[in-house]
Amino acid sequence: MSIDYSHIAQEAKSLIEAVSDRKSLEEARIKYLGRKGVLQEFMSKIPEISPEQRRAYGAGLNDLKNSISGWLDEKERAMLASLSQDGAYIDLSLPGKKPLLGRRHPLMQVEAEICGIFQKLGFKVFEGPEIETEHNNFEALNIPLEHPSRDAFDTFYIKSPQSTVHSPQKNEKSENHGPSTMDRRLLRSHTSPSQIRAMKVAKPPMAVVMPGRVYRPDAVDASHSFMFHQIEGIAIDENMRFSDLKGVLIAFAREMFDKNARLRFRPSFFPFTEPSAEVDVSCIICSGKGCSVCKKSGWVEILGCGMIHPHVLKSGGCDAKKWRGLAFGMGVERVAMLKYGINDIRLFFENDVRFLEQF
Ligand code: DAH
Repeated sequence: MSIDYSHIAQEAKSLIEAVSDRKSLEEARIKYLGRKGVLQEFMSKIPEISPEQRRAYGAGLNDLKNSISGWLDEKERAMLASLSQDGAYIDLSLPGKKPLLGRRHPLMQVEAEICGIFQKLGFKVFEGPEIETEHNNFEALNIPLEHPSRDAFDTFYIKSPQSTVHSPQKNEKSENHGPSTMDRRLLRSHTSPSQIRAMKVAKPPMAVVMPGRVYRPDAVDASHSFMFHQIEGIAIDENMRFSDLKGVLIAFAREMFDKNARLRFRPSFFPFTEPSAEVDVSCIICSGKGCSVCKKSGWVEILGCGMIHPHVLKSGGCDAKKWRGLAFGMGVERVAMLKYGINDIRLFFENDVRFLEQF
Protein backbone atom coordinates (compact mmCIF):
# COMPACT_ATOMS: atom_id res chain seq x y z
CA MET A 1 0.00 0.00 0.00
CA SER A 2 1.54 3.26 -1.02
CA ILE A 3 0.05 6.46 0.18
CA ASP A 4 0.06 9.87 -1.36
CA TYR A 5 0.69 12.25 1.54
CA SER A 6 0.75 15.36 -0.63
CA HIS A 7 -2.75 16.56 0.15
CA ILE A 8 -2.06 16.30 3.92
CA ALA A 9 1.21 18.16 3.46
CA GLN A 10 -0.53 20.84 1.43
CA GLU A 11 -3.27 21.26 4.02
CA ALA A 12 -0.78 21.42 6.93
CA LYS A 13 1.42 23.93 5.10
CA SER A 14 -1.37 26.39 4.39
CA LEU A 15 -2.81 26.02 7.89
CA ILE A 16 0.58 26.78 9.47
CA GLU A 17 1.15 29.71 7.13
CA ALA A 18 -2.19 31.24 8.13
CA VAL A 19 -1.45 31.02 11.87
CA SER A 20 -0.99 34.46 13.52
CA ASP A 21 -0.54 33.79 17.22
CA ARG A 22 1.27 31.37 19.49
CA LYS A 23 -1.90 29.66 20.64
CA SER A 24 -2.99 28.63 17.12
CA LEU A 25 0.56 27.60 16.30
CA GLU A 26 0.50 25.25 19.31
CA GLU A 27 -2.89 23.94 18.20
CA ALA A 28 -1.49 23.20 14.71
CA ARG A 29 1.47 21.36 16.25
CA ILE A 30 -0.91 19.24 18.36
CA LYS A 31 -3.20 18.58 15.39
CA TYR A 32 -0.38 17.07 13.28
CA LEU A 33 2.34 15.96 15.66
CA GLY A 34 0.42 15.41 18.90
CA ARG A 35 -0.15 12.04 20.57
CA LYS A 36 -3.60 11.80 18.98
CA GLY A 37 -2.59 13.77 15.94
CA VAL A 38 -2.85 13.06 12.22
CA LEU A 39 0.61 11.54 11.88
CA GLN A 40 0.18 9.32 14.92
CA GLU A 41 -2.96 7.91 13.32
CA PHE A 42 -1.00 6.87 10.22
CA MET A 43 1.74 5.41 12.44
CA SER A 44 -0.80 3.28 14.25
CA LYS A 45 -1.68 1.66 10.94
CA ILE A 46 1.88 0.40 10.30
CA PRO A 47 1.19 -3.11 11.70
CA GLU A 48 -1.61 -3.53 9.14
CA ILE A 49 0.72 -2.85 6.26
CA SER A 50 2.38 -5.65 4.41
CA PRO A 51 6.08 -5.99 5.19
CA GLU A 52 7.06 -5.15 1.57
CA GLN A 53 5.20 -1.84 1.59
CA ARG A 54 6.07 -0.90 5.18
CA ARG A 55 9.40 0.67 4.32
CA ALA A 56 8.00 3.07 1.70
CA TYR A 57 5.01 3.83 3.90
CA GLY A 58 7.23 4.64 6.88
CA ALA A 59 9.69 6.72 4.83
CA GLY A 60 6.85 8.81 3.38
CA LEU A 61 5.43 9.35 6.84
CA ASN A 62 8.82 10.39 8.16
CA ASP A 63 9.28 12.92 5.36
CA LEU A 64 5.85 14.34 6.10
CA LYS A 65 6.68 14.64 9.81
CA ASN A 66 9.98 16.43 9.06
CA SER A 67 8.31 18.84 6.67
CA ILE A 68 5.52 19.72 9.11
CA SER A 69 7.83 20.25 12.08
CA GLY A 70 10.11 22.33 9.83
CA TRP A 71 7.21 24.59 8.86
CA LEU A 72 6.09 24.86 12.49
CA ASP A 73 9.62 25.83 13.66
CA GLU A 74 10.03 28.29 10.83
CA LYS A 75 6.73 29.92 11.68
CA GLU A 76 7.67 30.14 15.34
CA ARG A 77 11.01 31.79 14.55
CA ALA A 78 9.28 34.30 12.29
CA MET A 79 6.76 35.14 14.99
CA LEU A 80 9.50 35.65 17.61
CA ALA A 81 11.55 37.79 15.27
CA SER A 82 8.60 40.06 14.60
CA LEU A 83 8.05 40.50 18.36
CA SER A 84 11.50 41.78 19.20
CA GLN A 85 14.56 43.02 17.44
CA ASP A 86 17.00 40.78 19.26
CA GLY A 87 14.94 37.64 18.75
CA ALA A 88 14.02 37.30 22.47
CA TYR A 89 10.39 36.54 23.10
CA ILE A 90 8.40 39.30 24.77
CA ASP A 91 5.25 38.29 26.57
CA LEU A 92 2.91 41.07 25.58
CA SER A 93 0.20 39.71 27.85
CA LEU A 94 2.18 40.58 31.02
CA PRO A 95 0.82 43.60 32.95
CA GLY A 96 2.90 46.73 32.37
CA LYS A 97 5.08 48.52 34.90
CA LYS A 98 3.41 51.67 36.19
CA PRO A 99 5.81 54.59 35.89
CA LEU A 100 6.26 56.56 39.13
CA LEU A 101 4.71 59.97 38.74
CA GLY A 102 6.58 62.84 40.29
CA ARG A 103 4.75 65.53 42.20
CA ARG A 104 5.38 68.73 44.08
CA HIS A 105 6.85 68.38 47.55
CA PRO A 106 4.14 68.80 50.23
CA LEU A 107 5.87 71.95 51.52
CA MET A 108 5.82 73.47 48.04
CA GLN A 109 2.15 72.53 47.72
CA VAL A 110 1.34 74.28 50.99
CA GLU A 111 3.52 77.26 50.07
CA ALA A 112 1.67 77.59 46.74
CA GLU A 113 -1.68 77.26 48.52
CA ILE A 114 -0.81 80.00 51.03
CA CYS A 115 0.48 82.34 48.30
CA GLY A 116 -2.63 81.55 46.22
CA ILE A 117 -4.95 82.63 49.03
CA PHE A 118 -3.09 85.94 49.46
CA GLN A 119 -3.05 86.46 45.70
CA LYS A 120 -6.85 86.23 45.76
CA LEU A 121 -6.75 88.95 48.40
CA GLY A 122 -4.76 91.16 46.02
CA PHE A 123 -1.19 90.38 47.12
CA LYS A 124 1.64 89.92 44.60
CA VAL A 125 4.35 87.29 45.09
CA PHE A 126 7.94 88.44 45.44
CA GLU A 127 11.04 86.40 46.26
CA GLY A 128 14.09 87.78 48.03
CA PRO A 129 17.51 86.05 48.09
CA GLU A 130 18.53 83.40 50.63
CA ILE A 131 21.98 84.96 50.88
CA GLU A 132 21.21 88.36 52.39
CA THR A 133 23.18 91.32 53.57
CA GLU A 134 23.62 91.48 57.31
CA HIS A 135 22.08 94.93 57.06
CA ASN A 136 18.77 93.74 55.56
CA ASN A 137 18.55 90.77 57.91
CA PHE A 138 19.08 92.91 61.02
CA GLU A 139 19.67 96.67 61.04
CA ALA A 140 17.13 97.53 58.36
CA LEU A 141 14.59 95.64 60.43
CA ASN A 142 15.38 97.65 63.53
CA ILE A 143 17.54 94.91 65.05
CA PRO A 144 20.85 96.62 65.91
CA LEU A 145 24.00 94.65 66.71
CA GLU A 146 23.51 94.92 70.46
CA HIS A 147 19.85 93.94 70.36
CA PRO A 148 19.11 90.84 72.45
CA SER A 149 16.57 89.50 69.93
CA ARG A 150 19.48 89.03 67.53
CA ASP A 151 20.65 86.04 69.57
CA ALA A 152 17.80 83.77 68.48
CA PHE A 153 18.37 84.78 64.87
CA ASP A 154 22.15 84.49 64.84
CA THR A 155 22.97 82.58 61.73
CA PHE A 156 25.47 81.32 59.18
CA TYR A 157 27.82 83.96 57.85
CA ILE A 158 29.21 83.69 54.35
CA LYS A 159 32.81 84.21 53.43
CA SER A 160 32.89 86.54 50.48
CA PRO A 161 35.74 88.38 48.71
CA GLN A 162 35.01 91.50 50.77
CA SER A 163 34.57 89.77 54.11
CA THR A 164 36.17 87.10 56.20
CA VAL A 165 33.98 84.61 58.08
CA HIS A 166 32.71 86.66 60.90
CA SER A 167 30.24 86.26 63.69
CA PRO A 168 29.97 89.70 65.26
CA GLN A 169 30.34 90.04 69.01
CA LYS A 170 27.98 92.12 71.10
CA ASN A 171 30.69 94.50 72.24
CA GLU A 172 31.88 95.18 68.70
CA LYS A 173 30.85 98.42 67.13
CA SER A 174 29.78 97.48 63.63
CA GLU A 175 31.29 100.61 62.10
CA ASN A 176 34.71 99.67 63.50
CA HIS A 177 34.73 96.29 62.00
CA GLY A 178 36.06 96.04 58.45
CA PRO A 179 33.38 95.75 55.77
CA SER A 180 30.04 97.29 56.62
CA THR A 181 26.92 95.26 57.29
CA MET A 182 25.74 96.35 53.84
CA ASP A 183 28.51 94.17 52.40
CA ARG A 184 28.66 91.29 54.84
CA ARG A 185 26.53 88.36 53.75
CA LEU A 186 24.74 85.63 55.65
CA LEU A 187 22.06 83.00 55.15
CA ARG A 188 18.93 84.91 56.07
CA SER A 189 17.42 83.83 59.38
CA HIS A 190 13.91 84.92 58.38
CA THR A 191 12.06 86.16 55.29
CA SER A 192 11.53 89.61 56.85
CA PRO A 193 14.55 91.15 55.01
CA SER A 194 12.58 90.60 51.79
CA GLN A 195 10.27 93.35 53.11
CA ILE A 196 13.08 95.85 52.57
CA ARG A 197 13.79 94.57 49.07
CA ALA A 198 10.10 94.53 48.10
CA MET A 199 9.64 98.13 49.31
CA LYS A 200 12.60 99.24 47.23
CA VAL A 201 11.33 97.48 44.10
CA ALA A 202 7.61 98.33 44.35
CA LYS A 203 6.53 101.63 45.79
CA PRO A 204 3.39 101.84 47.96
CA PRO A 205 0.49 101.36 47.85
CA MET A 206 1.52 97.71 47.69
CA ALA A 207 0.71 94.26 49.01
CA VAL A 208 3.19 91.37 48.62
CA VAL A 209 3.85 87.93 50.02
CA MET A 210 7.42 86.66 50.09
CA PRO A 211 8.00 82.91 50.41
CA GLY A 212 11.36 81.23 50.84
CA ARG A 213 13.91 79.26 52.83
CA VAL A 214 15.46 80.52 56.04
CA TYR A 215 18.39 79.23 58.13
CA ARG A 216 19.14 79.09 61.85
CA PRO A 217 21.85 77.34 63.81
CA ASP A 218 19.25 75.17 65.57
CA ALA A 219 19.80 71.56 66.58
CA VAL A 220 17.50 69.32 64.54
CA ASP A 221 14.66 67.62 66.42
CA ALA A 222 10.96 66.85 65.87
CA SER A 223 10.05 70.54 65.76
CA HIS A 224 13.32 72.26 64.74
CA SER A 225 15.40 72.30 61.60
CA PHE A 226 18.45 74.38 60.61
CA MET A 227 16.57 75.17 57.40
CA PHE A 228 12.86 75.75 57.03
CA HIS A 229 10.41 77.84 55.02
CA GLN A 230 8.57 81.03 55.83
CA ILE A 231 6.08 83.29 54.11
CA GLU A 232 6.31 86.96 54.85
CA GLY A 233 3.59 89.41 53.95
CA ILE A 234 3.27 93.19 53.90
CA ALA A 235 0.61 95.61 52.76
CA ILE A 236 1.34 99.33 52.73
CA ASP A 237 -1.12 102.15 52.16
CA GLU A 238 -1.93 105.57 53.55
CA ASN A 239 -4.61 104.40 55.94
CA MET A 240 -3.55 100.88 56.76
CA ARG A 241 -4.75 99.89 60.23
CA PHE A 242 -4.45 97.01 62.66
CA SER A 243 -8.05 96.06 61.80
CA ASP A 244 -6.91 95.51 58.19
CA LEU A 245 -4.24 93.15 59.49
CA LYS A 246 -6.86 91.22 61.45
CA GLY A 247 -9.22 91.08 58.48
CA VAL A 248 -6.54 89.80 56.10
CA LEU A 249 -5.36 87.12 58.52
CA ILE A 250 -8.87 85.94 59.41
CA ALA A 251 -9.74 85.66 55.70
CA PHE A 252 -6.53 83.66 55.21
CA ALA A 253 -7.19 81.29 58.14
CA ARG A 254 -10.77 80.58 57.06
CA GLU A 255 -9.65 79.69 53.56
CA MET A 256 -6.59 77.73 54.63
CA PHE A 257 -7.88 75.78 57.62
CA ASP A 258 -11.60 75.88 58.16
CA LYS A 259 -14.41 78.30 57.34
CA ASN A 260 -15.22 78.53 61.05
CA ALA A 261 -11.58 79.07 62.13
CA ARG A 262 -11.09 81.68 64.84
CA LEU A 263 -7.95 83.70 65.50
CA ARG A 264 -6.54 84.93 68.79
CA PHE A 265 -4.17 87.93 68.76
CA ARG A 266 -1.77 88.03 71.74
CA PRO A 267 0.31 91.19 72.32
CA SER A 268 3.96 90.41 71.63
CA PHE A 269 7.22 92.02 70.62
CA PHE A 270 9.11 92.11 67.34
CA PRO A 271 11.66 94.86 66.67
CA PHE A 272 10.29 95.42 63.15
CA THR A 273 6.63 95.93 64.08
CA GLU A 274 4.83 98.21 66.50
CA PRO A 275 2.43 97.13 67.87
CA SER A 276 3.22 93.43 67.47
CA ALA A 277 1.15 90.34 68.03
CA GLU A 278 1.43 86.59 67.94
CA VAL A 279 -1.55 84.87 66.40
CA ASP A 280 -3.10 81.54 67.36
CA VAL A 281 -5.69 79.69 65.31
CA SER A 282 -8.42 77.61 66.95
CA CYS A 283 -7.09 74.05 66.77
CA ILE A 284 -8.26 72.50 63.51
CA ILE A 285 -7.76 68.99 64.84
CA CYS A 286 -10.21 69.29 67.77
CA SER A 287 -12.05 72.51 66.75
CA GLY A 288 -10.79 74.17 69.92
CA LYS A 289 -11.97 71.53 72.37
CA GLY A 290 -8.44 70.54 73.38
CA CYS A 291 -6.20 67.72 72.07
CA SER A 292 -2.55 66.68 71.95
CA VAL A 293 -1.76 68.92 68.96
CA CYS A 294 -2.92 72.07 70.79
CA LYS A 295 -1.68 70.69 74.13
CA LYS A 296 -5.25 70.83 75.46
CA SER A 297 -5.40 74.61 75.04
CA GLY A 298 -7.63 74.66 71.92
CA TRP A 299 -5.21 77.10 70.22
CA VAL A 300 -2.16 76.67 68.01
CA GLU A 301 0.32 79.47 67.31
CA ILE A 302 0.72 80.08 63.59
CA LEU A 303 2.34 83.43 62.97
CA GLY A 304 3.80 86.72 64.12
CA CYS A 305 2.52 90.05 62.88
CA GLY A 306 2.12 93.75 63.54
CA MET A 307 2.19 97.20 62.02
CA ILE A 308 5.48 97.93 60.25
CA HIS A 309 7.79 99.98 62.46
CA PRO A 310 8.49 103.48 61.01
CA HIS A 311 12.25 102.72 61.04
CA VAL A 312 11.60 99.73 58.78
CA LEU A 313 9.48 101.78 56.38
CA LYS A 314 12.35 104.25 56.25
CA SER A 315 14.91 101.48 55.56
CA GLY A 316 12.76 100.45 52.61
CA GLY A 317 12.71 104.01 51.30
CA CYS A 318 9.09 104.76 52.24
CA ASP A 319 7.99 108.01 53.82
CA ALA A 320 6.97 106.87 57.31
CA LYS A 321 4.82 109.96 57.81
CA LYS A 322 2.73 109.17 54.77
CA TRP A 323 2.54 105.37 54.70
CA ARG A 324 1.44 102.72 57.16
CA GLY A 325 1.95 99.02 56.70
CA LEU A 326 0.88 95.72 58.11
CA ALA A 327 3.26 92.76 58.23
CA PHE A 328 3.11 89.11 59.09
CA GLY A 329 5.36 86.08 58.90
CA MET A 330 4.52 82.41 59.20
CA GLY A 331 6.34 79.08 59.02
CA VAL A 332 5.28 76.88 56.09
CA GLU A 333 6.26 73.64 57.90
CA ARG A 334 4.14 74.64 60.87
CA VAL A 335 1.09 75.30 58.70
CA ALA A 336 1.65 72.03 56.79
CA MET A 337 2.07 70.04 60.02
CA LEU A 338 -1.12 71.48 61.41
CA LYS A 339 -3.06 70.96 58.20
CA TYR A 340 -2.01 67.32 57.76
CA GLY A 341 -1.54 66.33 61.42
CA ILE A 342 2.23 65.68 60.98
CA ASN A 343 4.17 65.54 64.24
CA ASP A 344 7.81 65.49 63.08
CA ILE A 345 9.35 68.21 60.89
CA ARG A 346 12.17 65.86 59.82
CA LEU A 347 9.72 63.87 57.68
CA PHE A 348 9.67 66.75 55.19
CA PHE A 349 13.41 66.55 54.58
CA GLU A 350 14.16 62.83 54.61
CA ASN A 351 12.98 62.27 51.03
CA ASP A 352 11.20 59.04 51.92
CA VAL A 353 8.87 58.41 48.98
CA ARG A 354 6.43 56.50 51.23
CA PHE A 355 5.83 59.78 53.10
CA LEU A 356 5.96 62.10 50.11
CA GLU A 357 3.57 60.11 47.92
CA GLN A 358 0.75 60.66 50.41
CA PHE A 359 0.38 64.26 49.30
N1 DAH B 1 10.50 87.28 61.25
C1 DAH B 1 9.79 86.68 62.36
C2 DAH B 1 10.45 85.36 62.73
O1 DAH B 1 11.13 84.78 61.93
C3 DAH B 1 8.35 86.44 62.02
C4 DAH B 1 7.55 87.72 61.91
C5 DAH B 1 6.96 88.27 63.00
C6 DAH B 1 7.44 88.34 60.69
C7 DAH B 1 6.21 89.44 62.92
C8 DAH B 1 6.70 89.52 60.56
C9 DAH B 1 6.09 90.06 61.70
O2 DAH B 1 6.53 90.16 59.43
O3 DAH B 1 5.37 91.19 61.58
O4 DAH B 1 10.23 84.88 63.80
